[in-house]
Parts: sequence; structure tokens; C-alpha cells
Amino acid sequence: MAFEEKIKELLKKRELAKLGGGQKRIDTQHQKGKLTARERIELLLDDGSFEEFDMFVTHRCTEFGLEDKHFYSDGVVTGYGTIDGRIVYVFAQDFTVFGGSLSLAYAEKICKVMDKALKMGAPVIGLNDSGGARIQEGVNSLAGYAEIFQRNIMASGVIPQISGIFGPCAGGAVYSPALTDFTVMTKDNSYMFVTGPKVVKTVTGETVTEQELGGANTHGTKSGVAHQIAEDEREGILLIRKMISYMPQNNLEEPPVTPCDDPIDRLDDELNTIIPENPNKPYNVKDIVYSIVDESEFVEVQRTYAPNIVTGFARFNGMPVGIVANQPNYLAGVLDINASRKAARFVRFCDAFNIPLVTLVDVPGFLPGTTQEYGGIISHGAKLLFAYGEATVPKVTIILRKAYGGAYCVMSSKHLRGDFNYAWPMAEIAVMGPKGAIEVLNNKEIRQIENEEERQAFIDKREEEYKERFATPFAAAKYGYIDDVIEPRNTRFRIIRALQSLATKKDVNPPKKHSNIPL
Ligand code: HXC
Repeated sequence: MAFEEKIKELLKKRELAKLGGGQKRIDTQHQKGKLTARERIELLLDDGSFEEFDMFVTHRCTEFGLEDKHFYSDGVVTGYGTIDGRIVYVFAQDFTVFGGSLSLAYAEKICKVMDKALKMGAPVIGLNDSGGARIQEGVNSLAGYAEIFQRNIMASGVIPQISGIFGPCAGGAVYSPALTDFTVMTKDNSYMFVTGPKVVKTVTGETVTEQELGGANTHGTKSGVAHQIAEDEREGILLIRKMISYMPQNNLEEPPVTPCDDPIDRLDDELNTIIPENPNKPYNVKDIVYSIVDESEFVEVQRTYAPNIVTGFARFNGMPVGIVANQPNYLAGVLDINASRKAARFVRFCDAFNIPLVTLVDVPGFLPGTTQEYGGIISHGAKLLFAYGEATVPKVTIILRKAYGGAYCVMSSKHLRGDFNYAWPMAEIAVMGPKGAIEVLNNKEIRQIENEEERQAFIDKREEEYKERFATPFAAAKYGYIDDVIEPRNTRFRIIRALQSLATKKDVNPPKKHSNIPL
């Protein structure tokens, strides 16, 4: 064949590969309101930056008539490109080829990009839309999944890994996204479950729809498996780009600092009055976050799951930080099982990738009750404690109002190697709130007073005394547990100064194989 012919043949093969499972299936994908694998990659990466690998790979299966049925790329598009000029490795499952199901060749393609990403120290982004293991491939498909899982595990804490779920993700296939750092789901078209509705019906007798069982709403509010819920794929992909902008390429690099036009010494007088005088009255801690961070830009993570704690990324003077904040607006900001798990995982992500932590504390304690105790709040609460205690990144903590009991210790306290621990003047730091404390300390005296009014007057007086002695930041400041009591309106400046001074921080944990976090 003449060279010219060979080039023509190459171009023809490329065109064919780009059609995946064919135009008809692409149309069906569009009719479902979904984009194709290649369209997704196009949206994710900077214009024209995508370089594809393994376009001409086909499966090697000879069972169930598959020996005559081949499609270039074999159901997954892989390669690399850039996001805001920084390299990322990517794979996008192509539902138009055998329902995006995973063959051994397909798994090898994914493993290849993961290996390259790990070697090069660049993030991996996986866009999932698949019917799971390719049934005709039998154990080879399972082997392929397990090879991917092993790489997810080796890459964990070394390079950022993000999963988009833009269609089905079922069976063991769910474990690769679950092993990655963040999972983004689309509202109506995505679902994740270990076993589908039919199996559920057979085994447990429950009748449940795909969406009820594993849709974005379920994973965004009940299980916490999804970190971001997007209206549609475009929004989901933009969210992935946004999240990547806060992350370093790998664990040996610092997160990228961007130019900042927001003055570092910007005061916000409204912060001086944002905390209600009544200690039981809620307020929205996110108003404080928006006020103090650069340009009010805050990318919240797991917004709808355990809203009693807020987690997300922001910048101070262009420096990326992870923010963890108790939310008095929901369950009074109490720490429960879900909030502890949510925040612990976020803290560990930030620590793994050198992203400083800024913690805003207003927490009445851990949630009491049998549901919490039977569910293991002891172990789950310990996760958060562990995560903060092992974190070596810069840790800046501001106690806004309440910091009671174990929750005081947990929330990035000085004793867990907090670097800068500040408090607002209205902070209350004590073993417990005044009401509980007086009930314990003065129980006998209270019971001896028969007259209701006199009893209440006695309690009020004791509570007032307690508040004066303990419900103040100076009780902790006098021991040096609080480095300074700061004016709320100046919080942004104080945090930035603290972070600037911590830029050269070095802290190490003792050598060990790995820790034994209470999982
Ligand atoms: C081979 C598959 C496939 C699979 C879909 N297809 N899933 N081929 N293996 N797992 C094929 C279909 O036969 C069909 O081919 C084409 O993809 C499109 O599928 P449809 O069913 O027509 O599409 P839709 O109606 O949108 O339904 C999508 C679906 C459904 C819900 C994903 O296909 C489905 O339930 N698939 C099986 C899911 C499943 O049980 N997977 C195994 C999970 S267990 P044609 O040529 O007819 O158009 C697992 C173990 C992994 O994954 C363990 C790892 C440790």
C-alpha cells in the first residue's frame, strides 16, 4: 500500500474510533440527555489539549459471539490533557460500546493511564458511565477491576483522584470511585449501587427504584458517597475543573497559589455582630466563610450530607485552604457520626495534599443518644480526632462561640498540634454548657429546694456564675491554649498572617508502616 493510502487508512480508522459504538448509539446517548465519552473529555480539558492513548485497542474475547464484534477503543477513551494548563490523566467510559462494560483490554487501558499519572505525579480523573463487568469476559473482567482498585489504592494520597458518575455505576464497579478522593454525580442520570433493585427485591423483599437506591440524592444526603451533586454533566465537569484548581499535582508539591485582588486587611464590621446574643440562637456559619475568604469564593464539598459540619475549599490571599466549620444552623452544629466521618475524610485529604486547614468552631458537643452510641459515635468521632491529630499541614483555628467538651479537643485544638488557635470575644470554652454543668455540680442542692421559683432562681444564679468564669475565651487564653482573642471583623487578616507565617512549617509524624485510624 502506498504511503498516502496508509495515511488515509489511519485517518479512516481514527474517524471510526471516534464514532465508538456508532452514530445510532450516540444519538440514543444524546436522547437520554447524556454526553458521549469524547464530548465529556472535550469539556473537561483545555481546548485542544487532549492526547489520546490506545485508540486502536480492541477486546480479545472469543465467547458469546464477541469474536466478530469489535469496536476501536473498546468502550473507554483514555489519555491526558490539561486543566488550566496543568496536566491531568483521564479516562471516560463510553456507554455506546457494549454499554460501557469493562473488558480486560478496557481495564488495561485504564491501568495504563493510572500508571502514567502516578509516575508523572499528575491527577487522574475518571468519568464513569458503564454497565459494569462485561459479562462475556467472565473472570477477566473481574481481574481487570481488581487491577484498577489496586492502582486506586497505591495512588491514594500521592496524586488527586476524582470520579465523575454520569450514568450507571453498579456492582463491584462502584469501588473504584469509592477509592478515589471525590465523587461527582449528576442529578437525574447517574446511580451507584452494589446490587440493583432486582436483587434487592429478591434478597430483602424491598421495592425500590434505581434512583431511590443509588441516585445522586441518596448518595448526596444519606450515604455521603457523593461529594458533589451537579444539575447536569456540564456543571459536574466544571466542578471537577474547579476542585482541581485547589489541588497540587501530587503530594510532593504545594497547592497552586493564584493572584489575589481581594485586600488581605479587608475588615468586615458585620462580623462583630453576626453571633446572636442568645447562645441558643443559630446563624449561618457560611456567611462567615464567605466574608473572610478571597472574593467570597467557597467550593463546598458534601454540601447536602451532614450539613451540621461544613467542608470545602477556598483561598486566603490566593493560597488554597480546606475549611471545616461547625454549622449552628443545622442541629446546632453538633458533632454526630456523619459529621465526624465527613470532616475526617476531608481533613485527611487536605493533609495528604499539603492544603492548610482553617477550622471555624462553634460546637455544643457530640450528639447524645442510643442511635449514635449503637452506631459507633465513639469510633467515628475518634476518626475526626485522629485526622486532626495526625495532620501536619498548617492548622489555623478560630473559636467563634461554643467549644464544649470532647468537641473542643477534636476541632483542631492547640493540643492536637493546632498552630494558631484564636477565639472571638464571645467564645465559650468549657467541659460542658452552663445548664448541664450546674445540673451535675449542684444536683443535691437543686433537689433540696422545694419551691419551684426559688429553685429556678438558684439555678439561674449558678449558671450566671459559671458563665462568667468559664464562658469566656480568657479562661483558655490564660493557659496559652488560645494564642489570642481577636476582633471578629479582623478575622480574614489574622488568618492570612497566620498562614503566611506557617508557609515554611515542617512537622513530621514518627516513622511507621501506617497508622491504625479507627475505621
Ligand atoms: C455486557 C452489556 C453490559 C454488561 C450492558 N451491556 N451491560 N454487555 N456486559 N455488563 C450491553 C447491553 O447488552 C446492550 O447491548 C448495551 O450494552 C446497552 O445496554 P441496554 O441494556 O440496552 O441499555 P439500558 O437500557 O440503558 O440499560 C443500561 C443498564 C443495563 C442498566 C446498565 O444494561 C444493565 O442492567 N446492564 C447489566 C448491569 C450489570 O448487572 N452489570 C454487572 C454488574 S456486576 P446491545 O447490543 O443489546 O445494545 C459487576 C461485577 C464487577 O460489575 C465486580 C468488580 C469487583
